[in-house]
Amino acid sequence: GPPSPELVRVADKAAMARTAADLLLARIAENAGRIAICLTGGSSPKQLYELLATQAYRDRIPWPRVHWFIGDERFVPAGDALHNMTMARHAFLDACAPAANIHPIPTDTGSPKRSANAYARELITFYGADQLDPARPLFDVVLLGIGPDGHVASLFPGYPAVEVRDRWVVGVDQAHVAPFVPRVSLTLPALASCRTMLFEVAGADKQPILTRVLAGEDLPANRARSTHETTFLIDA
Ligand code: 6PG
Repeated sequence: GPPSPELVRVADKAAMARTAADLLLARIAENAGRIAICLTGGSSPKQLYELLATQAYRDRIPWPRVHWFIGDERFVPAGDALHNMTMARHAFLDACAPAANIHPIPTDTGSPKRSANAYARELITFYGADQLDPARPLFDVVLLGIGPDGHVASLFPGYPAVEVRDRWVVGVDQAHVAPFVPRVSLTLPALASCRTMLFEVAGADKQPILTRVLAGEDLPANRARSTHETTFLIDA
């Protein structure tokens, strides 16, 4: 199977955001060409996103070469308070990234399935092939959080979406945890196609699920692994 994840312990959420930002910059520095970063929703990455917009980080990111995707989206209109890419836009993208480099999952298509198909086409066009080559990852970095039930992106435990291997993006009609809106999610093989998969797991409320994940329980959070390198950032 894929290499085991590296566990990196940090003091608190501020240290986690700095560590994640530094890791992101290191990966960006390793790629002199076009860079693809897959963002995540939820509350965990917000501090990281805000940090990227600060002068110290902003000046070190070659914005014209960096493309921003999202690992999952809530099926709500763009601009809604629950919309993941809107959160990232407000936190840093709108202030820093060229509009053409922001790749949201469309949610105005009428159904999660149609949105999934549209985003799959966008990813395939960007990648330049409809089969993923392990030697040429789709993303430089994939950011992920872990839900209280062990979900990642919108791949919930026991849901058929977790098993999908022949598509890059799927519609998920019902969420397993709040917010109870339909979702659109990248599949495990699409998320795995990255140089670094970076989990941010912070806060006391994550302790129960982190314990289960580290015990090796069969959860989406344990099935999501980069074909290259996976890092878990964990706070005290
Ligand atoms: C979403 C996310 C989801 C999230 C986890 C953790 O759309 O909700 O992409 O997978 O990362 O639920 O959420 P928190 O960061 O809010 O704990």
